[in-house]
Amino acid sequence: MRGLYLVLATAILSPLHAVSVSVDVIASQNPHPAVQVKSRAVSPNVTSSLQHRDVPGQKAVFMHVILIFKFSLTLINAFQFDVDVFGYTFDNWVRDLTTIKAAGIDAVALNIGKANDWQIDQVSTAYDAAASVGISTFISFDYSSFPCDTNLTISYFNSNKDKPAQFKVDGVPMISSFLGLCLGTDGWQSIKNQGAYLMPFIEVSDAQDLQVGRPWGFLQHWHCWGCAWPQGNAPKTTDDDNWYLSNLGAGRFATTVSAWLYVHYPGNNRYLRGDDHLLATRWEQLIGLRSSLRFVEYATWNDFGESHYVAPTTSGNQPAGTTWVNGFPHTAWLDMSKYYIQYFKSGSAPSVTTESVYFWLRPNPHSIQATGDSVGQPTGWDWARDSLYAVVFCRTTGGSCSATLKVGNTSQSYSNLQPGPNKLELPLDGNSFGTVTVQVFRDGGKVIDDTPSANTFQYTNSAVTYNFNAFVGSATASICG
Ligand SMILES: *[C@@H]1O[C@H](CO)[C@@H](O)[C@H](O)[C@H]1NC(C)=O
Ligand SMILES: *[C@@H]1O[C@H](CO)[C@@H](O)[C@H](O)[C@H]1NC(C)=O
Ligand SMILES: *[C@@H]1O[C@H](CO)[C@@H](O)[C@H](O)[C@H]1NC(C)=O
Repeated sequence: MRGLYLVLATAILSPLHAVSVSVDVIASQNPHPAVQVKSRAVSPNVTSSLQHRDVPGQKAVFMHVILIFKFSLTLINAFQFDVDVFGYTFDNWVRDLTTIKAAGIDAVALNIGKANDWQIDQVSTAYDAAASVGISTFISFDYSSFPCDTNLTISYFNSNKDKPAQFKVDGVPMISSFLGLCLGTDGWQSIKNQGAYLMPFIEVSDAQDLQVGRPWGFLQHWHCWGCAWPQGNAPKTTDDDNWYLSNLGAGRFATTVSAWLYVHYPGNNRYLRGDDHLLATRWEQLIGLRSSLRFVEYATWNDFGESHYVAPTTSGNQPAGTTWVNGFPHTAWLDMSKYYIQYFKSGSAPSVTTESVYFWLRPNPHSIQATGDSVGQPTGWDWARDSLYAVVFCRTTGGSCSATLKVGNTSQSYSNLQPGPNKLELPLDGNSFGTVTVQVFRDGGKVIDDTPSANTFQYTNSAVTYNFNAFVGSATASICG
């Protein structure tokens, strides 16, 4: 029962419900997926058939957007966390959805928590704005705060499913969730009977129950929330994806991609390693799995509290007590994802017409001791690697491509880069601090030379508060070839 206990404990303690709960669900249910696949009797046909057949239907990439959760930590203190789009106007939605659409995203998953009037009004506004922008939407019920009520779920679903922006799978309107075991198989079956295409993340305790013919076999899709992040001190692999795929079968499994997870509140204080170029590596993994996958969800647009946002840090509200977001832009991660989104959907590598570079790093060495932080060092601090990560995109045709990365007085050059994305890492030894410089060369001529100013970002050896969030920058060659 440790898994369930963790779910409940984290749901109660976490100001930011979503990832924190799910990550624990996955980690506790499935600590060694590869071993479990071997030890349980899974038909060898299930896995082998996945490699060869492309799942039918058009592929789509979703963006998870959080409308609100108000979360009172009354047990600890009288703190209330209010995020994200409270007070959003139609124009605010148009602005955000236009950016999301421009990245190649097909639909947004509108995460709704508490059932109240302003929130259902925001759902309506979002659907209307989406229709005007030309992007689709569906509701993702968040049962860590939405009432565990099948009829209420159905009424929210029914009042939106016929709107023009509603995302449909082969004509059937989609609905998704974060959690929802509490509705039971009967509850979810009634929702399906209303004409819904189900893609929930339900915290089942045994993935074999998702197999066709088992209790949850009627789900059209099941969505792995926690599969986006490595759950320990090792790079992200696809072991967990493959474990769920082997139970669900190709075309019933949906999964997630994300760049980062750092949260730093009293009672919820942890870092999941974003090392090994997590975002680029995860996209490569999903492209590798594409014959079995129809849907992938990006986590998230605006969860500032857990640091996996790609929205501008000024979009909407941050939860009270969030000290690690301002000055740490992530918008370049969404821009970088465009290439991979197109690749995932089309199955072929997009051509790169000019050089660009995306780069990120944390502000301090992982072993830093903050001088004025009562929350303390986050768990997972010792999993972090001190490096500047960069992905350099070189032109598909023509010329040699090389790059130089620099932090303080540590620098390294990388030659003979390949056409398309190149993952580069500059290890930092703890003796070199200061500004970051990235340079890219075409045929020996410098086409990118970018140094964010010392006021914008510096890698430093002192901190008042802990910050394991990433500063993300980018630059593009102005000379097109
Ligand atoms: C695998 O599937 C094929 C046809 O789909 C079937 O003939 C064969 O018996 C199956 N093998 C096993 C081990 O289930
Ligand atoms: C849910 O709706 C059904 C059908 O309208 C109704 O029979 C049932 O009593 C409702 N349940 C609750 C708990 O309101
Ligand atoms: C780099 O900077 C550090 C201090 O930040 C200094 O101790 C070290 O000597 C410098 N190395 C070089 C090669 O200048």
